[in-house]
Amino acid sequence: MPSQETPQRVPLTIFTQFAGLLNPYIVRIMVRNTRIALVTGAGQGIGEAIALRLAKDGLDVALNDIHGNLENVKAVSEKIMALGRKSSVHFADVSLEDQVKNMIDEVVKEYGGLDVMIANAGIVMVKPIFETTVEEWDKIFAINVRGVFLCYKYAAKQMIAQGRGGRLIGATSEMGKHKITVNAYSPGVIESAMTQQMDQRTQELHGTSPGDLFKIFSQRTLLGYNGVPADIAGLVSYLASEEAHFVTGQSVRSRTTLLF
Ligand SMILES: NC(=O)c1ccc[n+]([C@@H]2O[C@H](COP(=O)([O-])OP(=O)(O)OC[C@H]3O[C@@H](n4cnc5c(N)ncnc54)[C@H](O)[C@@H]3O)[C@@H](O)[C@H]2O)c1
Repeated sequence: MPSQETPQRVPLTIFTQFAGLLNPYIVRIMVRNTRIALVTGAGQGIGEAIALRLAKDGLDVALNDIHGNLENVKAVSEKIMALGRKSSVHFADVSLEDQVKNMIDEVVKEYGGLDVMIANAGIVMVKPIFETTVEEWDKIFAINVRGVFLCYKYAAKQMIAQGRGGRLIGATSEMGKHKITVNAYSPGVIESAMTQQMDQRTQELHGTSPGDLFKIFSQRTLLGYNGVPADIAGLVSYLASEEAHFVTGQSVRSRTTLLF
């Protein structure tokens, strides 16, 4: 079944070849359809793996993170350029509306559009509820919930203006009439800086040894082991692909039984 989306047309590349006396010139006109992705929290972990995977899939990939992750996100951008794809770094705190708006404006200015928004940035806080302050609670919701809403809001506005559909990936809602699909990935337990932080905090709270939390997690998964960021990148690669145009409103859980 043909894709529902109109591919982006970027400048025509004309190749001229001399091919003997009878056919002095063969002119081949190639139309390149390059889709543009923006990945938040792309300096490490799952965001990094998704960004690299999308670049390998042939997308140009703009990266976001906070200034505190400067070196990491720059290194990811260089890896993407080494794969022959365009990449750039856009600092923004996803919980702040003006910064998210500016980030999307910058990406659109630099690449000419936006086709895939991966709202990946997030934080974790491991503490008992009775020790959690209102400020900490608000911070989690500002980044993990408001941040996704803001990224979807400004990406969707751009995608609707472009009129060629799009992909919003990170949390669930519906925008089917504009051919923008919205899907979420629920990573389960993925070994990353975030889960290392949880392991460390569990040691402090419960006197466990380094790595114990990962062992406990892995024993509770259906397959008996934890995931790595590239496992999630493979799933997101499909959700972001043109062939996934008929998949929307889904929250896809990876292989864990844990509610995480
Ligand atoms: N690792 C897991 O097992 C797991 C499980 C469930 C959900 N998740 C979710 O998947 C996403 C990625 O997880 P990860 O394990 O790669 O985490 P991670 O901590 O390794 O990476 C998170 C990234 O987000 C960035 N970030 C944090 N606050 C930000 C902000 N305000 N604005 C922009 N960027 C910000 C960080 O700098 C970092 O690069 C997160 O949203 C997380 O909640 C992870």
